[in-house]
Amino acid sequence: MMLSLPAIGEVPISISGADDDALEHTIRDVGAATHALVELAAGQELGLRGPYGTAWPLDEARGRPVVVVAGGIGLAPLRGAIRAMLDRPKDYPSVRLFYGARTPDDILFVREMLGWVDRPSFRMDVTVDRAGPGWRGHVGVATRLLRREALPEDGTYLLCGPEVMMRFTIEALAAAGVPADRIHVSMERHMKCAAGFCGRCQYGPWFICKDGPVFRYDRLSLLFGREGF
Ligand SMILES: Cc1cc2nc3c(=O)[nH]c(=O)nc-3n(C[C@H](O)[C@H](O)[C@H](O)COP(=O)(O)OP(=O)(O)OC[C@H]3O[C@@H](n4cnc5c(N)ncnc54)[C@H](O)[C@@H]3O)c2cc1C
Ligand code: FES
Repeated sequence: MMLSLPAIGEVPISISGADDDALEHTIRDVGAATHALVELAAGQELGLRGPYGTAWPLDEARGRPVVVVAGGIGLAPLRGAIRAMLDRPKDYPSVRLFYGARTPDDILFVREMLGWVDRPSFRMDVTVDRAGPGWRGHVGVATRLLRREALPEDGTYLLCGPEVMMRFTIEALAAAGVPADRIHVSMERHMKCAAGFCGRCQYGPWFICKDGPVFRYDRLSLLFGREGF
């Protein structure tokens, strides 16, 4: 979705949840527009257009083990997909989440995730870059956890987070024998029109707003991580 405030700006923000009455967005305060958005009080108005672009490939993932790797705010765009899969355990019998956050205070959706771990189809590991007092979980990058696991070659892999995190994750998956066409990444670029007209989000032959943001990795592998793209 494109969220906007007059005289401030318009930014792309994923849908992090939805029901009949509301759309949920989870926003990290990093600059002028996101700051103004998170400062809004209940009842204030904002501009909203969309949704645009591609979604996580849940149809293709049906019946396969699913491995989700998320970093920081990257869990927000995946939350809806995880919820949908946990609601249909017959279709998605194994959902595995690896989630990395900077500190324990940065972990998103803590209460909700504690509910997810009760589901037999779900398993997760959370790791932080910097632990605080009282943290007894993993410390270090999520890829370290991945390297310890037997990763299903026929699984569907959903990745969202900083590009460098996705790059190391892809390397770990390749080392484990996971084919590039089983991996899906969500790409981030600056956007303006969000509808494939202005070229602001061009990435090689694609527009991330229209052809993405979710891409099957084998389509991007020649560009991914290369400077200038
Ligand atoms: C498809 C997509 C989905 C997104 N979903 C979310 C979401 O669910 N929650 C969320 O908090 N953020 C999300 N973002 C990122 C969000 O759009 C940017 O943080 C926002 O545009 C920053 O605008 P600003 O005016 O607050 O900050 P600015 O001052 O414009 O930028 C602050 C910093 O963020 C970087 N930045 C700005 N826009 C982008 C961008 N589009 N891609 C990469 N870096 C950027 C700038 O280079 C700068 O370093 C998403 C981006 C994309 C492309
Ligand atoms: S934002 Fe205009 S083409 Fe993608």
